[in-house]
Amino acid sequence: MSTADPARLSRAEAEAELARLAAEIARHDRLYHGEDQPEIDDAAYDALRRRNAAIEAAFPDLVRPDSPTARVGEAPASGFARLAHAAPMLSLDNVFDPAEFAEFLTRARRFLGLDAAAPLAMVGEPKIDGLSINLTYRDGQFVHGATRGNGSEGEDVSANLRAARLVPERLAASAPAHIEIRGEVFMTKADFQALNATQAAHGGRLFANPRNAAAGSLRQLDPAVTAARPLSLFAYAMGEASAPVADTHWQYLERLADWGFAVNPLSARLEDATAAIAFQARLAGGRAGLAYDIDGVVFKIDDLGLQRRLGFVGRAPRWAIAWKFPAEQAMTRLCDIRIQVGRTGALTPVAELEPVNVGGVLVSRASLHNEDEIARKDIRIGDRVMLQRAGDVIPQILGVDPAARPADAAPYVFPTRCPACQSHAVRPEGEVVRRCTGGLICPAQRVERLIHFVSRPAFDIDGLGEKTIREFYDEGWLHGPADLFTLPAREAEIAAREGWGAVSAANLARAIEAARQVSLDRFIYALGIRRVGEANARLLARHYGEYAHWRAQMEEAGIIGSEARSTLGEITGIGPAIATELADFFAEPQNRAALDALAETLTILPVAASGSGDHPLRGRTLVFTGTLSAMTRPEAKARAEGLGAKVTDAVSAKTDFLVAGAEAGSKARKAAGLGVRILTEAEWLGILETGQMPES
Ligand code: IVH
Repeated sequence: MSTADPARLSRAEAEAELARLAAEIARHDRLYHGEDQPEIDDAAYDALRRRNAAIEAAFPDLVRPDSPTARVGEAPASGFARLAHAAPMLSLDNVFDPAEFAEFLTRARRFLGLDAAAPLAMVGEPKIDGLSINLTYRDGQFVHGATRGNGSEGEDVSANLRAARLVPERLAASAPAHIEIRGEVFMTKADFQALNATQAAHGGRLFANPRNAAAGSLRQLDPAVTAARPLSLFAYAMGEASAPVADTHWQYLERLADWGFAVNPLSARLEDATAAIAFQARLAGGRAGLAYDIDGVVFKIDDLGLQRRLGFVGRAPRWAIAWKFPAEQAMTRLCDIRIQVGRTGALTPVAELEPVNVGGVLVSRASLHNEDEIARKDIRIGDRVMLQRAGDVIPQILGVDPAARPADAAPYVFPTRCPACQSHAVRPEGEVVRRCTGGLICPAQRVERLIHFVSRPAFDIDGLGEKTIREFYDEGWLHGPADLFTLPAREAEIAAREGWGAVSAANLARAIEAARQVSLDRFIYALGIRRVGEANARLLARHYGEYAHWRAQMEEAGIIGSEARSTLGEITGIGPAIATELADFFAEPQNRAALDALAETLTILPVAASGSGDHPLRGRTLVFTGTLSAMTRPEAKARAEGLGAKVTDAVSAKTDFLVAGAEAGSKARKAAGLGVRILTEAEWLGILETGQMPES
């Protein structure tokens, strides 16, 4: 992130940086809310948002329609129905010290026209690190529950909430006819540890922290899975209500308890700022001893009448504030620097640390990001380092203590060869990352690609996690992705392995068989081509529709100046850098061979082309006959199916169109006899190109 003074930026620079920040923040929102897999900690995320806000303040006319300032959270992930919240679910502004907290109170008093000494009682509550949920009750009966999503609408997780018995089905005391109740779904630290231990034993996905475990467990498509996960819920806020429920927030918490909700027993009514500051200190001190993670304290002005008057500003209420805890820090020794090789060959340095307790979590590793970072902080093996862990995600090394440096500690020399395959590792001009050039001959890249291949957004094979992939790879069973589909044939062998057994082996075989059917977008994503993430894979799949067509076009796109290459570059959102990555991937004979081996064992389902909802071929029945010159018959069939048409072999009264290539014979005669519309190959190609039927 640039740190240049926003006021000094040129308009073009500001515009470019706002575009970059919008994309970057959207990506982190997606990772955090949509995938429960954050890459950066809260402090780094907040810094991005602050930078964005500062530039927007300096250039108000450059604020983008998709500005992160206007958004809360992330649009719901697919797989769940969307549910609109009757009242939006907002966020909280943060403070970090008593002075900032005092300013919050001053602002509220000023807004209300109260003098500085006027009493302003509050309620203090632990800020639970989970995911917020909105529960709708009608006539006391639970109707549905949704995640926060983008603040306006979230995912309908009603079935999961019910299955996990997280919410009362009926409110235990009288309530308004219509009411929204809000709270936090979370997992205790002990439940999180136990869940990860079970996941590890079954080769399942490990969660980075209790928050991700709670989110991942609640957002399961199978409610039975959620029901088996140890989730908890505290209720703490209200959304829309058809009649008033209380005069103060404290009373409201009492009503929540009467209705049958768990309310955090540490919540307290606080008469003034002094009491609030003492409450914050008490929770900060007791944090490590709590059964669940908290990342701060929430203060809410108690009087609901005052809350109504205070209202909201932007995406946060004026009547509440989150006093966040500072990141946890600790000193330890850097024992070694290990170089990890990623799926695309990126070499990432990882610090191996003398294990140290940072805020209740034992840390023995931290990312060092890249070679420049090591050089900038002059981090050397043997150094004592300052470590920081903010709530979740990967711990960071802040710096070293030069006074404690061993006399023989030498500056770190970043390797120029891949530690896994000894190929040259190169760092292109202007890039920070050094990459192994070994491609598929590099065992580290191979195994990472396999792990990516079976991951959730790709083939999503249950029971085939990182640990199992490594185990089978070391066994020599897996060379490329196609080998994954030979595993069911080894079911008996797998069952006999330590830690397996007949049931898990059979489950794995079944999951792999089920994964043979895959949509084109997931398939493309699974290949792990650099820069082709989920969004780009979807763009490609929508554009090309079906596999054979995509495959043929990508190979041709390898020829610079070809029509396929320019088409690829012109797809909105793709652009030249991605086109080059795709062309490079297809230029490698071993990649094409791996792809063909896979395609042979899979059923790759076409993806409806964008805007094909109203395509004239949708729902129509087609027959191809004769010889087509521009494409093979299977390709023509797949293209038609990709547009929502049904392709049959025989002409009947149900046939809508017959596409007649050269030397069409009896089928064309039959079609003519039945009055079926006959299209020439040129007309067929015209439909593909324009999405319009030719004049008859
Ligand atoms: S009140 C209008 N109370 O913090 C604000 N939120 O940063 C309503 N959270 O999305 C939220 N504990 O997920 C509130 N006791 C508590 C909370 C709490 C955790 C979370 C919640 C919210 C986020 C805001």
